[in-house]
Amino acid sequence: MKDSVIQYIESLIPERPEFFMRMESYASEHHVPIMESTGIEAMLQILRIKNPKKILEVGAAIGYSSLRMAHALPMTKIITIERDEERAVLARNNIMEFGKEEQVTLVLGDALEIVDEVSSYGPFDVIFIDAAKGQYQRFFELYSRYLLEDGLIITDNVLFKGLVAEEAIQHKRTAQLVKKIKQYNEWLMGHSDYHTVILPVGDGVAISKKG
Ligand SMILES: C[S@@+](CC[C@H](N)C(=O)[O-])C[C@H]1O[C@@H](n2cnc3c(N)ncnc32)[C@H](O)[C@@H]1O
Repeated sequence: MKDSVIQYIESLIPERPEFFMRMESYASEHHVPIMESTGIEAMLQILRIKNPKKILEVGAAIGYSSLRMAHALPMTKIITIERDEERAVLARNNIMEFGKEEQVTLVLGDALEIVDEVSSYGPFDVIFIDAAKGQYQRFFELYSRYLLEDGLIITDNVLFKGLVAEEAIQHKRTAQLVKKIKQYNEWLMGHSDYHTVILPVGDGVAISKKG
């Protein structure tokens, strides 16, 4: 989509509560990657339609997207995983400051290693994958076992700044990551247990519906 169209859509997004605006500024100033505005608005709308009881998020960072989900869906419980201790502390503080500690549970640890602990919070209506991009398929395989029959798996960054559509990428590490994301997208689109659509919003959001 043209940048001017994206800017137009962004200009129509209503202002968030002051608390979220401050989190957005913090993330921008401290280079914390949080979901892009059009991406999160699209995801929140899908979640409002789905009205899940329980969401598992893989990749909390400072708790921005989990608190946006908690705010949009006050009856929904959110379990979110973060492996970076500093970010986990910030996320916990933000969750407390926003008064959502009853609704949002932060689990500190590597999502690839704490499946038993996390699965005890399940099953989940929605799983949101937004952690290390090279590991998306592993997160999907590990946690989809704890998804309810009519559940959704949402994956962010599947278009990775549009790089998935580039012919050649000079930077070697970026090229490797893009290759992994493309492999994930192909695997996901071909998964016989899920119907998947890739929405070109934000950094690219895949919605996979089980069944
Ligand atoms: C893109 S950020 C998450 C942004 C957040 N969902 C938001 O939009 O506000 C990704 C986070 O995932 C964390 N992460 C990466 N790999 C992880 C893993 N294997 N287990 C747990 N957390 C992980 C990173 O430390 C980082 O803070």
